[in-house]
Amino acid sequence: MQYATLRNNVQIPMVGFGVWQVDNDTEAPAAVVEALKTGYRHIDTAAIYKNEEGVAKGIAVSGVKRSDLFLTSKIWNDDIREGNTKQAFEDSLKRLETDYLDLCLLHWPVEGFVEAWKDLIELYEEGKIKAIGVSNFKEHHLEELKEAGLMVPLINQVELHPQLPQPDLLDYCQDEGIQIEAWSPLMQGKFLDIPAFTEIAEKHGKTAAQVVLRWHLESGHVALPKSVTPHRIRENFEVFDFSLDADDMAKIDAVATHERIGPDPDEIDF
Ligand SMILES: NC(=O)c1ccc[n+]([C@@H]2O[C@H](COP(=O)([O-])OP(=O)(O)OC[C@H]3O[C@@H](n4cnc5c(N)ncnc54)[C@H](OP(=O)(O)O)[C@@H]3O)[C@@H](O)[C@H]2O)c1
Repeated sequence: MQYATLRNNVQIPMVGFGVWQVDNDTEAPAAVVEALKTGYRHIDTAAIYKNEEGVAKGIAVSGVKRSDLFLTSKIWNDDIREGNTKQAFEDSLKRLETDYLDLCLLHWPVEGFVEAWKDLIELYEEGKIKAIGVSNFKEHHLEELKEAGLMVPLINQVELHPQLPQPDLLDYCQDEGIQIEAWSPLMQGKFLDIPAFTEIAEKHGKTAAQVVLRWHLESGHVALPKSVTPHRIRENFEVFDFSLDADDMAKIDAVATHERIGPDPDEIDF
């Protein structure tokens, strides 16, 4: 496993297990058990995924100690708008059967995010969260926090993959000491047959998904691949035994179309 070190010296495993669209009852417990058995120690959930209980079940069954896990959840938009961040955080803790989070994020930059960020900072200062951050924030949202004189987030989790490399946002975050996490790191599995990926995969005896995840690691992104398929859960973790050369990286960089799969944070209404 590779780790990144956040500005506050917290270590974060660079491959995390994403669980968006993983059903709480029928999928989450088994998928989490499989992931933890494989070696993942970082799980990325959110209140809105409605599977925090299922994740907790999987963790309990796995026998992995809480202190060996990096657990992330997120404050949903309604709670941000309603000034309900602290209660939403406590509700997530209860569903996750834990008394702290390793990382808590504001899910989207909806109205009220500056006040919500103040609440997260207080929870962080009380020691209830090891690291705090935001998700889907553009440069101008991050600037708003700065203008309010508030702590710079430790993390920004955004849509990021070879088709949408977001160079300006990444430069901004690097300058500010904000670690980037990539959501939909595998482009939701939709574009893995692009020849650049399959050719590089063949050269290294790896799969296209492994090549894309390796591109993330070598670019310094924390990546959060999601799968409920046991062989893919394992495949997505077998990425620490090879590396890409400059030629491979350039070929993958050339795949960029700058098109999003998910919504633009400036246009959300949910
Ligand atoms: N903060 C946010 O707003 C936000 C938004 C979206 C996502 N996220 C986080 O990021 C995580 C990942 O994003 P995502 O779920 O959108 O997309 P993703 O991880 O890029 O792709 C998941 C899809 O790819 C398939 N897949 C997984 N591994 C594969 C492999 N090795 N080969 C071929 N196909 C493969 C999965 O299928 P199977 O499951 O059927 O195997 C699933 O359909 C989420 O689970 C969530 O934790 C955050």
